[in-house]
Amino acid sequence: MDRILIDTDPGVDDAQAILLAAAHPKHRIEGLLAVAGNVGLEHTLRNSLLLTEVIDQKIPVYPGCAQPLVMFQEDAADAHGHDGLGDVGLVPQQRQAETEHAALALVRMANESPNEITLAAIGPLTNVAVALTIDPDLPKKLKRLVVMGGAVTGHGNTSSITAEFNIYFDPEAAHMVFTAWAKVGLLIDVVDWEVTKRHGFPQEVVNRWRTMDSPKAKFFKAITDKNYDRSFNVLKRPSLYAADPLALAVLLEPDIVTKAEQRHLSIEINGSHSRGQTIVDWDNRLGKPANANIILAVDDLRFQALMEQGLR
Ligand code: RIB
Ligand code: CA
Repeated sequence: MDRILIDTDPGVDDAQAILLAAAHPKHRIEGLLAVAGNVGLEHTLRNSLLLTEVIDQKIPVYPGCAQPLVMFQEDAADAHGHDGLGDVGLVPQQRQAETEHAALALVRMANESPNEITLAAIGPLTNVAVALTIDPDLPKKLKRLVVMGGAVTGHGNTSSITAEFNIYFDPEAAHMVFTAWAKVGLLIDVVDWEVTKRHGFPQEVVNRWRTMDSPKAKFFKAITDKNYDRSFNVLKRPSLYAADPLALAVLLEPDIVTKAEQRHLSIEINGSHSRGQTIVDWDNRLGKPANANIILAVDDLRFQALMEQGLR
């Protein structure tokens, strides 16, 4: 079984991603590392605990960073609800969080099991950046890092226009992570907002999932209801964007990727209209080694099948 850690800010799509990952037969989730992002840490930690009950797995949940490294920009409660899971009022019944900080847990597990653990970072990169300050050799001790983040040609989803939320929430953390991986010549698998939009879940597929009778499908419907209405009836989107499920799908089944390109990616941390932008050297003008394996296309039907497997 491949071992994965998920650093997460649940978050409706984080929840969908964890349902997807928990159902995959060849992977074991070793822990959830909660971080502030979509909503505050008090919510993302509680939601992470709830998710371990929904998937019925006694996975340790570690409390992480409650603030970005430098300054708070904006949260995403408008998309995820004030409680982070669609404001349906679901709370964990029994599970309690670990007392160990998420960054310390990440460093400990990477050192206990070097090159065995794959990290999915589907929230702001604050926990990962703090872990890097504790153990600068972290990149060489993880088997793989998959990041949901960025907008590789500037089509962002925040008030900063060109920036995607996970990066914009903590640009300094993202800068530290991409710089650290570049320093040792390792690649980060990057699932950005733009590939997310190209591979959303079609409305007719989501409609079918919303009629499924399983407890997980009913949970998916409950937490997605507001997001469904906002996506299709307010924003008139062509599909349900599922950023974090896509990142986990790429992690779990790398051959789902049909197009990817390796480039050097850096993070803009200054600039009034560009803070948090992911700058990709597409023409390799600076001659710097690639640090990002940018996912550009995936097999839609396989992606949808992985999500549906998580709802049964
Ligand atoms: O921009 C999308 C990302 O920001 C997703 O991870 C979503 O959960 C939010 O955190
Ligand atoms: Ca997220």
